[in-house]
Order: sequence, then C-alpha cells, then structure tokens
Amino acid sequence: MGFLYSQFFKTPAYPTASFTGKTVIITGSNTGLGKEAARHVVRLGAQRLILAVRSLDKGQAAKLDIAGGTTTADIQVWQLDMASYDSVQRFAARVNSELDRVDHFVANAGVASFNYETAEDNEHTITVNVISTFLLLALVLPKMKETAAAAAATPTRPVFTVMSSGAHTHTSFPQRTAPKGKLLETINDEQEWAKHPGEQYPLSKLLEIFLVRAIAERCPAPQFPVTINAADPGLCHSELAREAVGLQKVAFDLFKTLIARSTEVGSRTEVNAVAAGVETHGQYVVDSCEIPKMVPLIADGKELQDRIAEEVFAKLDAIVPGVTGNFSLA
Ligand SMILES: NC(=O)c1ccc[n+]([C@@H]2O[C@H](COP(=O)([O-])OP(=O)(O)OC[C@H]3O[C@@H](n4cnc5c(N)ncnc54)[C@H](OP(=O)(O)O)[C@@H]3O)[C@@H](O)[C@H]2O)c1
Repeated sequence: MGFLYSQFFKTPAYPTASFTGKTVIITGSNTGLGKEAARHVVRLGAQRLILAVRSLDKGQAAKLDIAGGTTTADIQVWQLDMASYDSVQRFAARVNSELDRVDHFVANAGVASFNYETAEDNEHTITVNVISTFLLLALVLPKMKETAAAAAATPTRPVFTVMSSGAHTHTSFPQRTAPKGKLLETINDEQEWAKHPGEQYPLSKLLEIFLVRAIAERCPAPQFPVTINAADPGLCHSELAREAVGLQKVAFDLFKTLIARSTEVGSRTEVNAVAAGVETHGQYVVDSCEIPKMVPLIADGKELQDRIAEEVFAKLDAIVPGVTGNFSLA
C-alpha cells in the first residue's frame, strides 16, 4: 500500500543542493538512473564528475549526452566492472591516487539477474550488488575521510549512497535459517536460488540496507566524518529488467507502464540522498529523502544484521586483508 501510494501520489523533490566545487563519482552512470543523476549533478555545479562504467564506449556516449557541449564540469569516464574484484580494486586505487577529493559517491551500479550465474565466488547479483559495492565503499573511504579532514576550515561531510530498493520487502529472507557462518554460502547456492524464484534481487537490496546500518553502528556520527546511507528511487523506467524475456517481459513492461516513475524523477531520490546531511547516516531514504519505518525483519533484526556483517566483512577481508578496518573510527 505504501509503495503504491508513493508511486501514485508522491514525487521526489527536484534536486536543488549545490555541488559547486565538488567531486562526484557515480557507478553505472552510462544509462538509467545513474545517467540521470549525473545530469542533475552537472546542472548543480559539480566541478568534477567520474562516470564509473564497465563499457568505456557507453560511458563516452553518456558523457556526450550529459555534457551537451555546454558544461564547464570536468567529466571523466573510468572503467569499473563490479563483477570483478580486481577491477574494483584497480578503480579504487585510481580514486585514491588520482583524485584530490571525493565529496559524493553514488554506488548505483546494479543488476537484476534472471538466470543463475556466478561472478567471482558468489552468485552474480550478490557479487555486483553487495560484495563489490561494499568492497568499493571500504576502499574509497580513506579518500573520503581525507576530503572531510582537508575541509576543516570550511567543513564538508562527504556522502556515500548505496542504491537500494523498496524491493527489499519482497523477500522473507528464507536463507536466514542457515547455520551460523553459512548465510552467504546458502544465498549463493544454485539449488537454494532455484527454490526462491525472483527473490535474489530483493535479497541483495535487503543485504545492502543491513550492511549500511551495521557500518553506521560501528562508525557512529558525528565521530565518523562520512555519511553512508541507502536510497530507494521507487519503481522507475530503466534498463534494469533487460534480461526479462517472453511473458516475464510483457508483465514487467505492463507493470512499469502503469505505475513506474520516469528515470529522471527516480534519479532525484539518488541525488537528494547523496547531498543529504548527517541525519541520514545509516538510514534508508525514500522519495524526497524521508526516512520511513523499516519492516520488522530489519527493525527487529539486529542479530541477523550482525551475522550478515560478520560474514560479509570476513569476505571483504579475504579479498583485501584488513580492508574492513576502514569501517572504524580510527
Ligand atoms: N529502476 C528501478 O525501478 C529501481 C528501483 C529501485 C532501485 N533501483 C536501483 O537503481 C540502480 C540503477 O538501476 P537502473 O534502474 O538505472 O538500471 P539500469 O538502467 O539497468 O542501469 C544499471 C547500471 O548498472 C551498470 N552495471 C550493471 N552491472 C555492472 C557491472 N558488473 N559493473 C559495472 N556496472 C554495472 C549498468 O551498466 P551496463 O549498461 O554496462 O550494463 C548500468 O549502467 C540499481 O542499483 C538498481 O537496483 C532501480
């Protein structure tokens, strides 16, 4: 009911925050919500914008489209494949070595896979939407903390926004009954995936919210100088359901025709979230940056949250030893 009310009766506020002098990174910004968010950020005065994309050709085409020949913003296209841990590490190393600051980071790249595939050591959706997203966060946090520290004279609080989704309510997370230490193994299992058709994408978005909350608990504001939040743009037109075929595609197209927001309108939530203040640290925001009541699975799910964080952090530390040390006040 809340979802339909929001789709029909609420319109995210048109972004007006200033990005003047700021450096902004948006992953998956060659199309969809990421590209529209990029367009807003340039309109709002960003000094430098990094389009982090897996296809440089698509990224260059998006840059031309966004710049429109008139902007003075420095728009750069950088390669990033979230299905590869190596690519994530190379991208983050470039951020840390080549950029003097990172004020706003939108982890927008995401997939909704319709077939079981693996990438690295997980089911593909989990690698792209969850593990690589939080690996990226851990790896770029030093640059974002440095940005906050350098701005002591004119205080700035960098923001990292994870694009989550209201779809997180479309799963009861049946894998949560897995034995201790076996949550990720169960989530990644092909037979388990087949038992819960269509639930992997919602689950990936649920895990994102749990992890944002877990990190904010470890790194409470105001001691922690970076705001980390999760955002839901509502159901929007984009290429997200591109893998759907046949009846699935007909059903999705019809559903979207009836209730979806335009891509531009959806992108407003993403821009408002990444321009938001400290009050959104650890929060899930919707529409014009409102903080809704969370479902009981999350609101009462502290134990589950701790289990997820423990397993995901162990995986991140196995990829880059000690990287989750960046999720601390040190
Ligand atoms: N549309 C909605 O209704 C909706 C609702 C709630 C949340 N969201 C979230 O919003 C975000 C953007 O989705 P969208 O709707 O704009 O979908 P989209 O049009 O399909 O855009 C997704 C973007 O992610 C990129 N991407 C996918 N896999 C990648 C990888 N391995 N490495 C790097 N980039 C990758 C895509 O690049 P390519 O073009 O090269 O594939 C594309 O740029 C996602 O996180 C999605 O979950 C969307």
